[in-house]
Amino acid sequence: PDGGLIDSYGRRATDMRLSLTDKCNLRCTYCMPAEGLDWLQKNQVLTRAEIVRLVGIGVSRLGIRELRLTGGEPLVRADLIDIIADIRDQHPELPISLTTNGLGLDKKAQRLKDAGLTRINVSMDSLHPDTFAQLTRRPFLDRVLRGIEAADAVGLGLVKINAVLMRGINDHEAPDLLEWAVSRGFELRFIEQMPLDADHGWTREGMITAGEIRELLATNFTLTPDPRNRDGAPAERWEVRRSTAPDVVVGVVGIIASVTEPFCADCRRTRVTAEGKIMSCLFSREETDLRDLLRSGANDEAVAQRWQEAMWAKPKAHGMDHTGLGAADFVQPDRSMSAIGG
Ligand code: GTP
Ligand code: 5AD
Ligand code: SF4
Repeated sequence: PDGGLIDSYGRRATDMRLSLTDKCNLRCTYCMPAEGLDWLQKNQVLTRAEIVRLVGIGVSRLGIRELRLTGGEPLVRADLIDIIADIRDQHPELPISLTTNGLGLDKKAQRLKDAGLTRINVSMDSLHPDTFAQLTRRPFLDRVLRGIEAADAVGLGLVKINAVLMRGINDHEAPDLLEWAVSRGFELRFIEQMPLDADHGWTREGMITAGEIRELLATNFTLTPDPRNRDGAPAERWEVRRSTAPDVVVGVVGIIASVTEPFCADCRRTRVTAEGKIMSCLFSREETDLRDLLRSGANDEAVAQRWQEAMWAKPKAHGMDHTGLGAADFVQPDRSMSAIGG
């Protein structure tokens, strides 16, 4: 290899997704079981210094150009602000973004911005308190909305909102969610539910497909393909016009069709779990530990090399066919989304 994170199919990972914790204060049904999971012990989780070192290795030796911090819920990590400040200190130009459920964001948005965070994505699946509580098993919609407002107010770039649609629960809300987002200048993305729930309750019939999402939106909106280059992003973007005023573009909506329209061939991601394991893909069956290597006194070159080896083995694709399962060799990973990092 040439020093980058290339895989045996010729893809190059330049986008590092780092999970800061496996813990979360919501229990979204498509992700976590009601009772939570067996959380990692504190000494199993990468420390602030280990995280900063790994990011440094990624950027200076392996061609990482973008960093996203995930969880569980990254805001529950007490030293989050310090971690961002340390990374920003060493990498003045690196885009650093955060994917969060928004709880506590109202109080932390300004400090996140000051520490050097570039952008933020907030998950919010419903604007109705009861539906939100049903989906997340917690009655915290108001707090999430306050968090989104705060992120917008302090100027954390374009706020993106992630919504997973669940059949019979919040799917009818799709047009309302989009109206809410475009009227506030947020970029909403609808996400196909993936088989990454801890309860293994995912079904093909339950999943709202990208095609259905476009139909649901067609009642109130006209969508036309966004001419900007997709550039490896998971979301396919559409320009939005209200049906009542078809001449005016009022915003953009993204549809993340990981199941029915996979983007594996264009994937640029390398993932690090909270306990320091490299996952070359969201659906990897194999994991490569870097934490013990870091703790054994290995030098940066040795760490970089193991990371490269892990990424070389990145699978070609997740193996689900367009129907969402089909392919006989698709096996749901043991880890839930929260334990991988969204
Ligand atoms: P930006 O558009 O740059 O903000 O990034 P993003 O869309 O990757 O960020 P985010 O963390 O908000 O991820 C949105 C959704 O994309 C996740 O909830 C997943 O459903 C999906 N996703 C993220 N990474 C992967 C991946 O590696 N493979 C697949 N299939 N889906 C992914
Ligand atoms: N399928 C699709 N998206 C999921 N997320 C969590 N679990 C799943 C799943 N099973 C999303 C959350 C959040 C991001 C981190 O991942 O909604 O936006
Ligand atoms: Fe928490 Fe995110 Fe999983 Fe919801 S999807 S339970 S907010 S980690």
